[in-house]
Amino acid sequence: MIDAMSEMRGSDLGADLLEELREPTERLLNHHLNVAKMWFPFEFIPWGEGHTYSDEEIEAGRNGTVYDSGLPQAAKSALYVNLLTEDNLPYYYNETSIKSPFDHPWGVWTRQWTAEEDRHSTVIRDYLMIRRSIDPWALEKGRMQQESKGEIPRFNSLADALIYTSIQEPATKVSHRNTGKYLDAVGRKIMAIVAGDENLHGNFYQGVASAAFEVDPSTMVEATNRQVQHFQMPGTGIPGFAEHAKIIAAAGIYDYRHFHEIVEPLIGSEGWDIEHIENLTPSAEVAREELLVYVQKLGRVALRRKEKLAAISS
Ligand SMILES: [Fe+2]
Ligand SMILES: [Fe+2]
Repeated sequence: MIDAMSEMRGSDLGADLLEELREPTERLLNHHLNVAKMWFPFEFIPWGEGHTYSDEEIEAGRNGTVYDSGLPQAAKSALYVNLLTEDNLPYYYNETSIKSPFDHPWGVWTRQWTAEEDRHSTVIRDYLMIRRSIDPWALEKGRMQQESKGEIPRFNSLADALIYTSIQEPATKVSHRNTGKYLDAVGRKIMAIVAGDENLHGNFYQGVASAAFEVDPSTMVEATNRQVQHFQMPGTGIPGFAEHAKIIAAAGIYDYRHFHEIVEPLIGSEGWDIEHIENLTPSAEVAREELLVYVQKLGRVALRRKEKLAAISS
């Protein structure tokens, strides 16, 4: 098993690139450790406001009677998807940790990131249980189904993982923050602090990705093209994910506008400035062209969505 893992850490996963990124990864990790604040999930929860489930409620819940908190369906879908996504942490850890030797700064980062992410499911679940915001029986069944499947985005290279996480962390930030708008003051505060963590995670991955563009621009451009064109939020293993994602998008919690708002500056002059990278390989040139066309198209879709939403609200 260990031999197989060592082999997997070979060049196909980007071991050479990772080694070249040792110094910037360490610098970004130290920066993160300086700016990340310690926070305590249990401090946010109004424990005294919770209720014990009655025997009747338990029987009804177990028998599939849907518990309704009265929140809009979009908020319930977002809470369900956001929490179950956070619950899948063991598989994300597995996917990222095999890309690095244990003592490489990337390995240190992966464990720090895991510890921080673990707070997210803790605090969101505790809040939902106290407030009974979503059906707890459906939630637990969903968690069991999702985690026993272990379905997460898998990457063939470190370059792909860096691009995906550079987009996914800010996308998750947006989703948490916008979900908070449906909740009471306690819920909003919780979603805001979780979103703050995701923001710092995004900064780290984007920083390492920037350094990787300096080392191997062609590989990174090709990875960006792949990941942008096929990007999906990480919750695809969640029961009913596609349906929930549609509801979440229709409510404007997370949709193409947000995706475009994240990707455009990342690939543009404020970010990796992909248009002006020189000396790309022929296949990276093709990938760049495809990427720029795709993001332009995405911009038109995002604009139409903005206009539609403006028309509805006026
Ligand atoms: Fe998270
Ligand atoms: Fe995160």
